[in-house]
Amino acid sequence: MEERGKFIALEGIDGSGKSSQVKALTHKMKEAGLPVYPTFEPTAGPVGSLIRNIFSGRIEADQRTIAGLFVADRLDHLLNKTDGIIQKINSGCHVLTDRYFFSSLAYQGAHVDMDWVIQANSQSVKLLRPNLHIFLDLKPEKSIERLKSDRRSTDMYEKLETLQKVRQNFFTAFEKMPGENVVIIDGARPFEEVSLAIWEEVSRLF
Ligand code: TYD
Repeated sequence: MEERGKFIALEGIDGSGKSSQVKALTHKMKEAGLPVYPTFEPTAGPVGSLIRNIFSGRIEADQRTIAGLFVADRLDHLLNKTDGIIQKINSGCHVLTDRYFFSSLAYQGAHVDMDWVIQANSQSVKLLRPNLHIFLDLKPEKSIERLKSDRRSTDMYEKLETLQKVRQNFFTAFEKMPGENVVIIDGARPFEEVSLAIWEEVSRLF
């Protein structure tokens, strides 16, 4: 039987640079000859699309509903038969995800009880725990600057106070789930330095 792939989650507040770092890490892993599948949440699947429609304001939903949708999106991300993460891992492919359940604890935990969010996500945690969670830490003041200079419209979570709460929640969530392998990396440094720090952590897994 082939060896199972590793599962690595990148986490951070909006504007922390994780999406670009997922790209860079994917590139480095490929160069090292490692089979890798990069992915993200909210997913591009049906539930993820519904979530994006809620975030853009096209559809209205309660925060509890949103938390539930993230649970469903995550389960589909893991279990769906076309390109589900579990299937990839079982075939020996390494999977990098831009956000996983800690994002739900941090973001939905800003609106609903975090312990409830933990319980609601327990099935995903049971199905597949990441070998490594990398938290790219950046102060919201900095991340908002980046978002403004960067792209698109700011979404509902990109306000300073919310991101402050979300960042705090990430740390609370790490304390609530001490069994998870979480590495915190300072995301304020230059891109290449951050990229190297991530690669150092990831290459330990192989
Ligand atoms: P993000 O990674 O920023 O995607 P994009 O680069 O397309 O904007 O994710 C979009 C938003 O979804 C972000 O504000 C965080 C939020 N989110 C949650 O609130 N809970 C979750 O469980 C996840 C995965 C994301």
